[in-house]
Amino acid sequence: MSETSIIDQQAFTNTSTQIENPEFKKARLFNPDGTDELTERKLIGGNSTNLIQLNNTKYKWATKLKTTMYANFWIPQKNSLQSDRFDLLTEDQKETFTGILSFLIFLDSIQTANVPNIADYITAPEVKMLLAIQTFQEAIHADSYQYIIESVIPRELRNGIYDRWRDDKILFERNKFIAGEFQAFLDNPTEQGFKRVLIANYLLEGLYFYNGFQFFYLLAAQGAMTGASRIIKLINKDELTHVTLFRHIISETFTEADHDWVIEMTKKAVDQEVAWAHHIIGDRILGMDKKSCEHYTKHLANRRLVAIKIDPIYEGVEENPYRHLEERADMHGEGNAKGGFFTDSASYNQSNAVGGFDKF
Ligand SMILES: [Fe+2]
Ligand SMILES: [Fe+2]
Repeated sequence: MSETSIIDQQAFTNTSTQIENPEFKKARLFNPDGTDELTERKLIGGNSTNLIQLNNTKYKWATKLKTTMYANFWIPQKNSLQSDRFDLLTEDQKETFTGILSFLIFLDSIQTANVPNIADYITAPEVKMLLAIQTFQEAIHADSYQYIIESVIPRELRNGIYDRWRDDKILFERNKFIAGEFQAFLDNPTEQGFKRVLIANYLLEGLYFYNGFQFFYLLAAQGAMTGASRIIKLINKDELTHVTLFRHIISETFTEADHDWVIEMTKKAVDQEVAWAHHIIGDRILGMDKKSCEHYTKHLANRRLVAIKIDPIYEGVEENPYRHLEERADMHGEGNAKGGFFTDSASYNQSNAVGGFDKF
């Protein structure tokens, strides 16, 4: 055995699922001294060969999730946007529509770039491949926004949607904060930094997209931009599988001792999302306002915390103020319920494939 591989072996000798190796290292691209035995398999800091050896899998939830992610497969260009009329929106709706797109574009851009950085440290192949599927989906989402922009937005406004962060200080600060958390880990890859990245990612996938999504459903409920909203629904379904993926990774990795700083990060994420929703949605949009956005964000945050076995931190937000919109968008897996604003049969089949998207 070479000197290098002995050092590597020593770095990966622990057998618990916690991250304990003092040198926090990426998985080797090919690790001939490793093993694919299930008894040795670990999510992080394991000693696998790095082959995608799926004859046996340790993390059964990953196989189930893979099936769901495959069933969700879609491409934006198969969704017609011909009936969407941007010119019929009010000036406030137009501003909110384009502003939300600006932020969603940022989120999916950074996910496309950053999820592989997380995958680099995963040593269970059945989980690592899910992050590859997720990365592909994030790129599809980014492409979807361009497809919506090209199809419904006047030419003179298109570049401005991508460039909004240059002039919108609130958007710029937010983008910088989100990217900063991920960049800090890339610049100094420590065990604690990786854990922070997992939570930052969970909050991004589980909180940051959702006020924006609800705005699209609201428009669709009013008979506007139904094509774009259908695409948002497809993105939403993917994002919920990403929340599930990170929930599992976190559950396998975290201990009680992590709770305090996870709560601190969650509060910060909520404050930022609320400030953003107040800025971009505010009290100008019929059917959503500052109060409902704040209530919804806190409601979601509680749900995300409970999912990783941390008690809720916000009181009086048990009800989901946008449940009616989610129901009409069929985000709860009932099929196309009466009054739903999408009529495609695909949504019925896909949502039933996992027994309800709100269950994650
Ligand atoms: Fe995405
Ligand atoms: Fe995502």
